[in-house]
Amino acid sequence: MQIHHTIASLRAARATAGRVAFVPTMGNLHEGHITLMRQAGERADCVIASVFVNRLQFGAGEDFDRYPRTLLADSEMLAAAGVKHVFAPDEAEMYPQPQRYHLDPAPAQVSILEGEFRPGHFRGVATVVLKLLNIVQPDFALFGKKDYQQLMVLTNMVRELALPIEVLPGDTVRAADGLALSSRNGYLSNVERIRAPLLYRLLRRIRDAVRSGDHDLLTLETDAVDELTAAGWEPDYIAVRRRVDLQPPVHMDDPLVVLAAARLGRTRLIDNLEI
Ligand code: PAJ
Repeated sequence: MQIHHTIASLRAARATAGRVAFVPTMGNLHEGHITLMRQAGERADCVIASVFVNRLQFGAGEDFDRYPRTLLADSEMLAAAGVKHVFAPDEAEMYPQPQRYHLDPAPAQVSILEGEFRPGHFRGVATVVLKLLNIVQPDFALFGKKDYQQLMVLTNMVRELALPIEVLPGDTVRAADGLALSSRNGYLSNVERIRAPLLYRLLRRIRDAVRSGDHDLLTLETDAVDELTAAGWEPDYIAVRRRVDLQPPVHMDDPLVVLAAARLGRTRLIDNLEI
């Protein structure tokens, strides 16, 4: 496996790599990322991963500075997963001057859910992913359903800008107790880690209730928010939405997903479950 710190080096390697599947990450890798790498390997001659903590998608007061940077351990995991090339630029390579051209996703998609609580986040994600896709020029790009709204925004970006790339979604990988794997789980104290699966349990309860015919979404959502609050969490939202555009459902036979974000101590966790 080769690690490339410059765009020029990555591009030279890509030129002879055949059909490429690309998995962008911010590093501090776990089994969720690695599952995407393996899935990528089934589709292409060559898997390229990127590891870059993208300043543009972090808001003021968020965890950009303390986001874990673990390139050595990440490289070992990527090599073991069969990844051929890792693009690991430093800040000066990706943003030699402050980025002046940005991609603004449709307001309807980014003013809701994560976008409401993290203004500018998806603009930063879309901008860096468009730039990474231009650098790597893959045939496929893989993104996890763990970040459901991100997957929707990027799928729409690729379609609306007619990028010659196929977006493939990956299922959420969870710990044995149900907690969705996330680099941010490392921020949790031992006690918080034991309490953290409550978020997933509440998503499952809502999914099961809706599946068995309970259509009083407001009560289901409010009860779950109250239960999180009573357990000492600070919920941002728990919402049942249409999968296609994450807007409130009009018909209960629309394909649905329930999404949640809540802070446990200093750690903000997000999760979702398709209904
Ligand atoms: P990061 O949080 O490192 O995630 C990289 C990819 O791994 C994303 O597509 C994410 O959805 C996926 N992923 C994370 N946890 C997962 C889990 N438990 N199961 C399955 N997939 C999981 O998402 C980003 O980085 C950044 O926003 C990025 C797209 C790289 C742009 O900077």
